[in-house]
Amino acid sequence: MNPVNSIKRIGLLTSGGDAPGMNAAIRSVVRMGYHLGIKTYGVMRGYQGLLSGGFKELGPRDVSNIIHRGGTILKTSRCAEFKTNSGLKKAKLNLDKKLLDGLIVIGGDGTYRGAYELSKVWSGQIIGVPGTIDNDLYGTDFTIGYDTAVNTALQAIDKIRDTAESHERMFLVEVMGREAGFIALDVGISGGAEDVLLPEIKTNLKSISKHLYQAREAGKTSSIIIVAEGDEEGGAFQIAEKLKQLSGNEYHVVVLGHLQRGGTPTSSDRKLATELGAFALLQMIEGKNKVAVGRLRGVLSTTLLSQTWKRKKPLDPFLLKLLPILAK
Ligand code: F6P
Repeated sequence: MNPVNSIKRIGLLTSGGDAPGMNAAIRSVVRMGYHLGIKTYGVMRGYQGLLSGGFKELGPRDVSNIIHRGGTILKTSRCAEFKTNSGLKKAKLNLDKKLLDGLIVIGGDGTYRGAYELSKVWSGQIIGVPGTIDNDLYGTDFTIGYDTAVNTALQAIDKIRDTAESHERMFLVEVMGREAGFIALDVGISGGAEDVLLPEIKTNLKSISKHLYQAREAGKTSSIIIVAEGDEEGGAFQIAEKLKQLSGNEYHVVVLGHLQRGGTPTSSDRKLATELGAFALLQMIEGKNKVAVGRLRGVLSTTLLSQTWKRKKPLDPFLLKLLPILAK
């Protein structure tokens, strides 16, 4: 692997919510860069670091023993100032001062939108690597961190099921996903939930209440309902209250929250992060700009950054159909 190369110095950052596997992606970019004679400068705290000029040269030893660690050694943030014109200009000045030819950003849709805005004022090449537990980016079948988050949530749900069954209780479990129900649908299916409440689909609490009543009548003594945090009826606490008013029944609530973002990345996330990190750098060397890398329908691919949020990745329609059939 030794393509003709005009890229000599690149920046690398992680931004937005951390996701397990980000460190494996960092390692892959740095070591592929080292192999190709490219210097990698880590930008600390995402776009905030671009504003303050927080760069750190990274060599192969700086990324030792991080492949198995959750979080991100580069730290991350959500940076409001970066979205302003003066913020973008500051970032451009710092990138130019450091003589960078390109920038690799690892994050979700907010990170990609930031990268796209930056590309309007800075002439270096920019490539996105999909790192978010939400899996809501078009252009890749799965995002880095999603598989780990789903498995973390599933382990928790399995434990809750033991208690639900022993006490014959009904539980609402809230999982992350402000705008996307991928985690909720996935754990709903693999956790055998009674119902899943998703931001993409209008929630009908009356029919959920009726369904739970019928389930009781049919001999079910416990139930688990998954609520994506972005459901339009509210979070799990609000929904429990509304269901109580409809049926008089008590619902126990567990909000999994940030528990889902940490932890050791699964082997799928480490592998995906490793291939996408290296692939991003190789695509930059080939001259690609303003694109995000991904595995799309199983194939390593690039997608225009702007398409990653303009086009919507759909929830699996077959899983959606299966859910009510299997919750009998
Ligand atoms: O984008 C990842 C995510 O974990 C979402 O699922 C969640 O809504 C959001 O980040 C929470 O962000 P923060 O940690 O900034 O509160």
